[in-house]
Order: sequence, then C-alpha cells, then structure tokens
Amino acid sequence: MPFAHITGWGMAVPDKLITNADLEKIIDTNDKWIVERTGIKERHIAYDGQTTSSLAVEAAWKALAVAKVKPAEIDLIICSTSTPEYMFPATACLIQDRIGATKAGAFDLSAACTGFIYALNMASQAIRSGSLKVVLVVGAETLSRFVDWTDRNTCILFGDGAGALVLKADETPGGVISSVLHSDGSGADLLSIPAGCSKNPATEATIRAGLHYIQMDGREVFRFATRVMAQATREVLSSAGISIDDIKWIIPHQANLRIIEAAARGLKLPLEKFVINLDRYGNTSTASIPIAICEAIKDGRLQKGDKFVLVGFGAGLTWGASVAQWTGVLETEQMIRPTYFRLFARTRSFLRRLWLRIEGIVWGRKNS
Ligand code: ACO
Repeated sequence: MPFAHITGWGMAVPDKLITNADLEKIIDTNDKWIVERTGIKERHIAYDGQTTSSLAVEAAWKALAVAKVKPAEIDLIICSTSTPEYMFPATACLIQDRIGATKAGAFDLSAACTGFIYALNMASQAIRSGSLKVVLVVGAETLSRFVDWTDRNTCILFGDGAGALVLKADETPGGVISSVLHSDGSGADLLSIPAGCSKNPATEATIRAGLHYIQMDGREVFRFATRVMAQATREVLSSAGISIDDIKWIIPHQANLRIIEAAARGLKLPLEKFVINLDRYGNTSTASIPIAICEAIKDGRLQKGDKFVLVGFGAGLTWGASVAQWTGVLETEQMIRPTYFRLFARTRSFLRRLWLRIEGIVWGRKNS
C-alpha cells in the first residue's frame, strides 16, 4: 500500500499589512486589548484584484517547484476554502486552469478553518488506496472581503492567505498517517455568513442588515475551541498508535493564542512545542495550518523524520486532527522549469478559451 508523502509546500500572503495601530484608526479598539485577548499583531489583506485563486495559484506554483512535480502529473486538486470566488465554478477549477493541470480533477471543500485537515485526509486516503498518485491540496482565503470592518468583534481577527501541499504516493513509510474528523451542526449559528446562498439570497434587505458579513458568537466559539483542540489531538494519536512523546510539533489552527495555550495545558505540553505565527497573520482560516507548516519547514523547526500533529476547529461546527511524519522532498531526477510551465499554462488557457469561442460561433451559440 503506498504512503501519502508531503513532498512539496508553498505559501502566499498579500503584501498589504493591517496592524493593530491601523485598526485603532477605524474602530474603537487598541493594540493592548487585541494582543492580550488574541495574540494578533498584524494581518495581511488582499488588495483589489487579488483573489482566493490568485493567492492559491502562487502557493501552488511554489509547492510544485519544491516537489519537482509537473502540473500535468497532478491527478486531483482540492481547494479548501470558505471564501470561494464564486458559488460555482469551484475555485479549484480556476486553479486547475491557471496552472495547466491538464489531467486533474478539481473540487472545493467547505469545512471552514478545519478544511485543510479534511482535505489532507481526503487526499491521503485517495493516495493510500492506490487510486491517485499526486494530489495538490490548497487552503486559500480572502476573508477580508467578508469582514465587517466596523465590527470590532470580528474584524480584528482575520487575515488573507494561502498554503499548498503536494501529496505524492511512495512506498517509503511516512507521510500522512491518520486523521480524525468531526462536526456538530447544532452549533452552525455560532459562526456563519447568513446571506448570499440559497436560504437568504442577496436582497437589498440582506445587504442593509449586514448579513453578508461574518457573524460570530466569539465567547461560545472560544469555549468550543478550547474543548476540542486537546481532545482531537489525543484522539488522532490514539488512532495512529503514537505516543505524544513521539510528537515533535503540534501545528494548530491559528485563531487565538489563548485557545492554543488552553490546548497546551490540556495536553500537558509546553507552548514551545506548538508552531505559532498568528501574531503576524491573524486567523487565515483554512490557510493557517499550511502556512504554519511552510514556515516551520523554512526556519528548520520541522526536520526530516519528525512526526507532527495538525489540529483545527471552525465553523460548522467542525474540528479534526491529522498526524503525519515529514520525510522531506522525495528524490527525483526530474528537472522542472517553473517559468516554462507558467507560460505553457497561460497559453493553453488562452487557446482553450479561444477554441470554445470559435466552436460557439461555428455552432451558432447565442453568447459567443
Ligand atoms: N477591542 C476592544 N474591546 C473589545 C473588542 C475589541 N476589538 N472586541 C470586543 N471588545 C470588548 C467587548 O465589547 C466586551 O466589552 P464588555 O465587557 O463591556 O461587553 C469585552 O471586550 C470582552 O468581550 P469578549 O467577547 O468577552 O472578549 P473575549 O475575551 O471573549 O475575546 C474574542 C473575544 C477574541 C473574539 C474571543 O472570544 C475569541 O477568540 N473567540 C474565538 C473566535 C474564533 O476563533 N473564531 C474563528 C473560528 S475559525 C473559523 O471557522 C473562521
């Protein structure tokens, strides 16, 4: 049975920064409150024209270059996001087109901040079963577009960004070992964007009522999060038959430092065992875990052979955890030229669009 190895990784965040001092100018808040209650100091915010797929594509190119994988080798793209570009088509299909993943299937996965763990599980199961060989898993968000920048309860928390991993089949033991996934829809109203979908389509009234923005019962979400983080970590370790002493790093969803501290207390672990970067990014939802993985690899914290736990929670309510062993980049003779593939993808996309137009004219389609 093949193993599902994490063999490529990449992240992308917008250049534009909003610090706590910037927020002080637009809402009734202050740096001291935000740092004490959340640990967040600044967040990256997409500029006009930057989108969930453009961040995802940037992260994906980096991950493919590290893995030395050609876009045409990808079997499946899973984009975990709560801020897709459209209701449909899936953002994953936009990524597929932009990177020229000619044979890949593509779909979006919606499990809020737990989404990356869900996506990683789907991808690794498909590889472990032997049905797929290469899967690109992306977590990407532009939450800033759904935040009410006059609501101090929510706007201080969120940031934009994307992280991508390439998962590849290989017979060497390691990679994603086990995952646990949970949900409790009875808490659906604790964290939601109430309008814009089939229940409450956009109307003047929904817009006036601010129902297209994130609505959150912060205290209840906090209580739920502190309960499930340690619980899910213990559960995934037990399902994998791994002792917590064998775990080098816990890489948690980056929502609030106090939630991570509570998880550390629950697991009787020092905070130093947790990869934490929320001070610089805020809560980037499903992108937070892959971004933290990229940083842990880049700064040398995550080393070949290390076992680590990913654990998260989010709207739904959803929560879950994965345990994995990082085995580094898989050896390959393959040379890849990212610039060449970018050019190929762009040209291919242009020619396919042109071809669809020409076909439309030939067949007399009205909107061609
Ligand atoms: N600046 C200053 N004061 C504030 C701010 C602010 N930005 N926001 C709230 N306050 C005030 C409140 O009005 C309240 O004042 P009051 O006591 O006079 O009423 C006081 O601070 C305390 O408010 P609480 O809501 O009790 O503050 P709390 O300590 O719970 O912190 C927070 C709030 C940070 C939102 C916390 O509850 C939290 O992190 N919850 C979890 C949120 C989360 O993780 N959400 C993402 C989930 S993942 C996903 O799926 C997207």
